[in-house]
Amino acid sequence: MEPHGLTAKSLLGILLLSAFLTCFANAEIHYHEFVIEATPVKRLCKTHERVTVNGQFPGPTLEVRDGDSLVITAINKAIYNVTLHWHGIRQLRNPWADGPEYITQCPIRPGMSYTYRFTIQDQEGTLWWHAHSKWLRATVYGAIIIYPKLGSPYPFPMPKKEIPILLGEWWNRNPMDVLKLATFTGAGPNLSDAYTINGQPGDLYICSNNETMRFQVESGETILLRIINSALNQELFFGVANHNMTVVAVDAAYTKPFTTNVIKIGPGQTTNVLLTANQPPAQYYMAAHAYNSASAPFDNTTTTAILEYNCTTKRNSSKPIFPQLPGFNDTATATAFTAQLRSPSKVDVPVYIDDNLFITVGLGLISCSNPNSPRCQGPNGTRFAASMNNVSFVFPTSNSLMQAYYQGQPGVFTTDFPPVPPIQFDYTGNVSRGLWQPVKGTKLYKLKFGSKVQVVFQDTSIVSVEDHPMHIHGYQFYVVGSGFGNFNPRTDPAKFNLINPPVRNTIGSNPGGWVAIRFVADNPGIWLVHCHIDAHLTWGLAMAFLVENGVGELQTVQPPPLDLPQC
Ligand code: C2O
Repeated sequence: MEPHGLTAKSLLGILLLSAFLTCFANAEIHYHEFVIEATPVKRLCKTHERVTVNGQFPGPTLEVRDGDSLVITAINKAIYNVTLHWHGIRQLRNPWADGPEYITQCPIRPGMSYTYRFTIQDQEGTLWWHAHSKWLRATVYGAIIIYPKLGSPYPFPMPKKEIPILLGEWWNRNPMDVLKLATFTGAGPNLSDAYTINGQPGDLYICSNNETMRFQVESGETILLRIINSALNQELFFGVANHNMTVVAVDAAYTKPFTTNVIKIGPGQTTNVLLTANQPPAQYYMAAHAYNSASAPFDNTTTTAILEYNCTTKRNSSKPIFPQLPGFNDTATATAFTAQLRSPSKVDVPVYIDDNLFITVGLGLISCSNPNSPRCQGPNGTRFAASMNNVSFVFPTSNSLMQAYYQGQPGVFTTDFPPVPPIQFDYTGNVSRGLWQPVKGTKLYKLKFGSKVQVVFQDTSIVSVEDHPMHIHGYQFYVVGSGFGNFNPRTDPAKFNLINPPVRNTIGSNPGGWVAIRFVADNPGIWLVHCHIDAHLTWGLAMAFLVENGVGELQTVQPPPLDLPQC
């Protein structure tokens, strides 16, 4: 053996080894402690005790890279049961870290803790985390920013700055009490008192000027806004005065860029936009107000923050310029925005469908034997309800669905969720009163591992039509089509986009319309499907998929962690 050959060989070996180590070392593990605790929060002139994480409102931002792992210990020092959900994270084979209360875990009781352990697998962009227990998410939420793996660039020019914009909804009353009252009376919940940007209502509300969020930009630079709708019950329009925005991603999936001056965003959704500071140096409002698609009362106030060009602070006494937002009920603008979304290039959409579901989503009313009862304060002495295929979802209380399933405990759920409505009717027409009352149940729909699934969510006009932002846990899906009126299974599929449909985790049903999605059931476990308007979730607008294990370890749910809370 020649000595120099050996040297070259071992050199190569060292190079390969170090390359491997760098790759390996690139994936990080992030450890966090989330202390969930009542905290004084001053908003709209008064100080209120609100549940927060680590005393922050909104809560801490998680910044990770694709491939990283998170280990987050949730310590419950509040007086309520709580769980945390990592909205949009796939949690492959790991439903135990997903978080919805009584679905994949029992709640973390006051004084107890639970450690969420999960890995980000092939996701980049903006997601968010929030409490998934009653209405705690009104104040318990924060951003999740997933950067590309080290060394892989964004598919657009590197922005000079990145700013998370969390749109929220604020009640002067404790949201948990708002829920309690609504659950007792059966009426609609009290409306919120303000919307917020990064926790602050902004200049248009009393006692809020000093804390209005301000974001600095330099003339000419391009920044990335990571917009998240974390409002509890309201879809929103968002815009920035005199500035266009280029949409580059939604729900942690890149999109084919397009330019717009307004964004429609439903609770649960995220939208990343590039904004270039190409206007005369001044202060510009960014603002959000309701997109209200139902005939129902809503909070019609407007939240603002200020985009200020360098050197315009204070010196400029003139008021910031205000953006033009669409009218509250401008469904045409809302729909036109969403209809522009495409994947950047051709994607692998399932073509042959194994499970074809047609699911009505909408409100309902439960009649009362005594309509004058204080518990029947809904329309005409009824109680509000909501349902999917006429089943109004009831959360279990004795165990979580996933724990019951894993332990083989019977009696907690059934798997007879109907794949089509039990009765066919003109869903968006004048629906006879006899069809307004749903039945209650904890019904799941079973999917074989690997099944190719199509779901059409069909809104109904029962009580009112409405755009329902439908969210599926543990999955991303292709939005292949949407329309108004009743879905027509003979003519509408021909118009589906099976080439470059957008990838999302939450999509609106269209008010008085429908939306069609497709995905492959490649993540075993029990996954909640629900309207991300919490008032509707409370009323039962939910169901769950039970995705069976496939073959072998890589298609099987992992064993539960030892500290998983028990009921
Ligand atoms: Cu963002 Cu079931 O939730």
